[in-house]
Amino acid sequence: MKFTTDTVTDVTVHLVTEAQRLDMVSDEVRTYLSSTLDYKGKLKSVYSNVGPNSENVVLVGLGKEDKVTKDHYVQAAHVAANELNKLKIEKASVEVKTAGKVDAKTAVQAVVEGVLQADYSFDTYKKDKSKKSLKEVNVSSDLSDVNQVIEEAVNILDGINLTRDLANTPANDLYPETLADAVVEKFANTDVAVEVYDKPQLEEMGMKALLAVGKASPKEPRLIVLKYLPLGDDKPVVSLVGKGVTYDSGGYALKNAKGMANMKVDMAGAASMIGTVFALAKNKVQKNVVAVIVATENMVAGDAMKNGDIIGSLKGSTIEVLNTDAEGRLILADGLYYAATQLNSSCIVDAATLTGAVVAALGKNITGTMTNDQALLDSFHAASEVTGEDMWQLPINDEFRGKTKGTITDLVNIPVSPSGAGTMFAAAFLEHFVEDTPWIHLDIAGTSSSGKGHKYLPDGASGVPVKTIYEFVKNN
Ligand code: BES
Ligand code: ZN
Ligand code: ZN
Repeated sequence: MKFTTDTVTDVTVHLVTEAQRLDMVSDEVRTYLSSTLDYKGKLKSVYSNVGPNSENVVLVGLGKEDKVTKDHYVQAAHVAANELNKLKIEKASVEVKTAGKVDAKTAVQAVVEGVLQADYSFDTYKKDKSKKSLKEVNVSSDLSDVNQVIEEAVNILDGINLTRDLANTPANDLYPETLADAVVEKFANTDVAVEVYDKPQLEEMGMKALLAVGKASPKEPRLIVLKYLPLGDDKPVVSLVGKGVTYDSGGYALKNAKGMANMKVDMAGAASMIGTVFALAKNKVQKNVVAVIVATENMVAGDAMKNGDIIGSLKGSTIEVLNTDAEGRLILADGLYYAATQLNSSCIVDAATLTGAVVAALGKNITGTMTNDQALLDSFHAASEVTGEDMWQLPINDEFRGKTKGTITDLVNIPVSPSGAGTMFAAAFLEHFVEDTPWIHLDIAGTSSSGKGHKYLPDGASGVPVKTIYEFVKNN
């Protein structure tokens, strides 16, 4: 997609609020819109008058003026781009005006995002690539630094689409080694330094929990560390830790076919952190950020980890593995402890497709958030309000902490007598490894592949929560 700011196009898109006077169309069309169509500018409502002998306008509703948010602009621009594609239009202009509390800069960003959201499809494995007609969008705005604003939004979407591509790639092609290769290649000409640690190095480091989960697979685990340090390496960093289980069969606690169906996306947390760092670096955001990716498969074999095995960890805590399918918390234990002790972290954010229970609690469109630092999470939620990615906090309390204690080990990876609330138990387990560093845990088991139809998100991997982590880091 190409964005311009001074091209004249045949077709113009207007984003209109409810009750707005529609001066952009002729009296005749305006009368038709109000009396025949009862067109009111409701959110996402679309009217097009395009073709020979027409006015060449597309109207999309933003909803009620006093309720308009940035996300409404994204939704409306997404609808507009879909409509333009349906009409086989290659070039169009979007008139970007402010509405409600949304300023000009935010509106431009949102419009660029909406257009790009409509442009994404995962067609790496398709002979017939999707052919969308829309190739060029002229952004018409009186903002002085409009080009810069467009560029920032384009780079964020590049990060989101990188996340989607990685998470959509099947496990026969994407496993720890190839994930590391992809990261090295993607960041080759950026300000991000990539370190990859292989199995012998992980043994040397003592990443015992990661190694235990990865034991059964011939595809060996990797630790991938992405360092983006524009402020110099002595300044504190925001650490981003991602669960990178490139395939979760469940291990000996084997999932059934339905449960395994989408388990290539069990590295969506890792993919989110990679995409976020990509966007931050491309936009030269002046914050020190390090991403820690713990990557492994969770498979079955004669020498696989078994239910009841006792394993070690980087921290030195022993863990009784009562369920091999609760593997994400094991590898994150090592990733979080590494971030807490090796990286000068001012705070840690982790993202993980950690529990099916979070889907039961919050559904497919709300990320579960947990923390040991309420003020930090409040600022994260403020970022999510801006980006339109819905989040809801779940508690970590002493009841859940108590359940993490083992009888013959320091910890157990599931409660001895499970009683629901698996998402909070998992967070209480993770908390043990952050060593009091201010920390936010994001359970994205539901939201990382939200399913077609939720607002402007595509089918398959959604790229959630890249936007919010980016916004949080930028404001942190
Ligand atoms: N990767 C899964 C969680 C998951 C479930 C992600 C559905 C995406 C969609 C995780 O490793 C897992 O298997 N968790 C178990 C934990 C249980 C054994 C305590 C679960 O949620 O069932
Ligand atoms: Zn699992
Ligand atoms: Zn998993």
